[in-house]
Amino acid sequence: MGYTLIKHPLIDHKMTILRKKETSSMEFRQVANEIATLMGYEVTRDLETEEIEIETPICKTTGRVISGKKVGIVPILRAGLGMVEGLLTIIPAARVGHIGMYRDPETHKPVTYYSKLPKDVSSRLMLVVDPMLATGGSLIEAIDELKRNGAKNIKSINLLAAPEGVKAVQEAHPDVEIYLAALDERLNDDKYIVPGLGDAGDRLFGTK
Ligand code: URA
Repeated sequence: MGYTLIKHPLIDHKMTILRKKETSSMEFRQVANEIATLMGYEVTRDLETEEIEIETPICKTTGRVISGKKVGIVPILRAGLGMVEGLLTIIPAARVGHIGMYRDPETHKPVTYYSKLPKDVSSRLMLVVDPMLATGGSLIEAIDELKRNGAKNIKSINLLAAPEGVKAVQEAHPDVEIYLAALDERLNDDKYIVPGLGDAGDRLFGTK
């Protein structure tokens, strides 16, 4: 598998709002969720459907409904929380697990401090969400954690990525498709994405 850069004028426009340093936390939260909704449309494109018989007020007919695998959404805490509502807008029946990770400021390595997942991850399409795919360290760990719990069908949804992070995740988990709203130039020495949008968690929640 590889990565899919979702190209759409609305996504480009909304990503520019997120990047601007003067965008408030309130607007950042709203727009991050809107982009997640738009991405969710593309990410769920290959969900299986089946035909069922229904009756309209006029006559009997058939319609298609989602069948087979159901969906699980797993935000990587805390910034991943900023995309959950947007995904639930179009996949309201999804179960939501949480994986808590932070980046050690000195080693830049991910540290897991919380993991709570739905029981039936093995029969769900699991969507890992984190706005920023930087080094790929936390995403690789989160996918490891999902696989340890039996997940077999995993996709990653990230607003923004650095090429280094995409490569690292592809090497560690070649079976996981990565969906991006934008692919940036590189990481800087502090492992921030350039040009990026800063610290997604701080911008979402108004912290420093
Ligand atoms: N995490 C962020 O929030 N921003 C970056 O640029 C990289 C990682």
